[in-house]
Amino acid sequence: MKIAIASDHAGFGLKNRILRFLAEKKMEPLDLGANGRDSVDYPDYAIEVAESVSKGKLDRGILICGTGIGMSIAANKFPGVRAALCHNALTAEASRRHNDANILVLGERVLDEETAVQIVGIWLETEFEAGRHQRRLDKIRAIEEARPIGPRSSGGC
Ligand code: RB5
Repeated sequence: MKIAIASDHAGFGLKNRILRFLAEKKMEPLDLGANGRDSVDYPDYAIEVAESVSKGKLDRGILICGTGIGMSIAANKFPGVRAALCHNALTAEASRRHNDANILVLGERVLDEETAVQIVGIWLETEFEAGRHQRRLDKIRAIEEARPIGPRSSGGC
């Protein structure tokens, strides 16, 4: 799996913790910065990762800022990117099973390290369920292509 990780200054500490965790899992993520606590702009880092995921140059990405909100907003501007801001095991699992999230977003100021590591582990190991969830993702893709499809359909949560 080709995966990159990036943060702004507010996510720098948690990025280092996640990098250690990924190294323990024998993964070799691309570290795209930031490289310290000096103030930077989170969109610059979101763009770097999300553009590569959008173009298929990366399979997955992990983005970290203070709350995770700014990184989510920026990353989700890119077609094909499904960036999910996760806070716990439930959201990490659902973001993969239901949303096929290809970017995980974390907030260093809202998560303890143990929870963050748990989220990353679940997010990396959980498969997309497809089925009715694929139909919903197709509708999101249609929004990106400016041609919403089909009537509302329901059935299952
Ligand atoms: C930086 O202070 C902070 O605004 C940023 O890390 C993030 O939380 C934005 O959403």
